[in-house]
Amino acid sequence: MPTQYHDKQLSGDALDQIFREARSYNGWLDRDVSDAQLHGIWDLLKMGPTSANMLPARIVWVKSAEAKAKLAACVSDGNKSKVASAPVTALIGMDIDFHEQLPWLFPHTDAKSWFEGDEEGRRAGAFRNSSLQGAYLIIAARALGLDTGPMSGFDADAVNAAFFGSTPRVTVNFICSIGYGDPSSIFGRSPRPDFGTFNTIV
Ligand SMILES: Cc1cc2nc3c(=O)[nH]c(=O)nc-3n(C[C@H](O)[C@H](O)[C@H](O)COP(=O)(O)O)c2cc1C
Repeated sequence: MPTQYHDKQLSGDALDQIFREARSYNGWLDRDVSDAQLHGIWDLLKMGPTSANMLPARIVWVKSAEAKAKLAACVSDGNKSKVASAPVTALIGMDIDFHEQLPWLFPHTDAKSWFEGDEEGRRAGAFRNSSLQGAYLIIAARALGLDTGPMSGFDADAVNAAFFGSTPRVTVNFICSIGYGDPSSIFGRSPRPDFGTFNTIV
């Protein structure tokens, strides 16, 4: 079935850049990413929806040589060179005490009380919504002309101790390198199935 086009849809070039031609990179060109670009990613990703506007992600942008070395020591062998060579790696953490911020983030009702005393519910909410925010980060970076390399191959306890130790309610969800991808670092695109394979309209 052909795609239905809406009059507000993005151009084919934009869809290529964000989805169809975007890849997850393993290696990076020797080209810096500025702090202004990281602010630009945040200023887009923060607009993505989260439950009750809870915005549970707490992001640490690993950019200095010292921080990269510290992070490389926490990731799987296959990921060490990836974080060492990337201009930036974002650590997408999640704050299980996100509800403390709800009086100003969701001011029209007392949403904080929904979560008080429900640590299991907060954990599920923080994981679900920080995962979404990580996805928004990938889309925002691509929209701004950058490439990404998400990773879950790391020792979470080690990352938490090294980067979130002073805020123990924040724990890492996943990490994502950002830069200008080296095309020679990736293999061919893995299969992406047609609609009928994994979808049902009921
Ligand atoms: C949450 C997440 C974790 C991932 N973890 C790793 C990882 O630890 N190491 C790695 O090399 N790639 C990792 N990847 C990259 C995936 O293998 C890659 O996105 C997938 O094969 C699709 O590749 P493509 O985006 O180039 O089509 C991860 C991707 C995601 C979204």
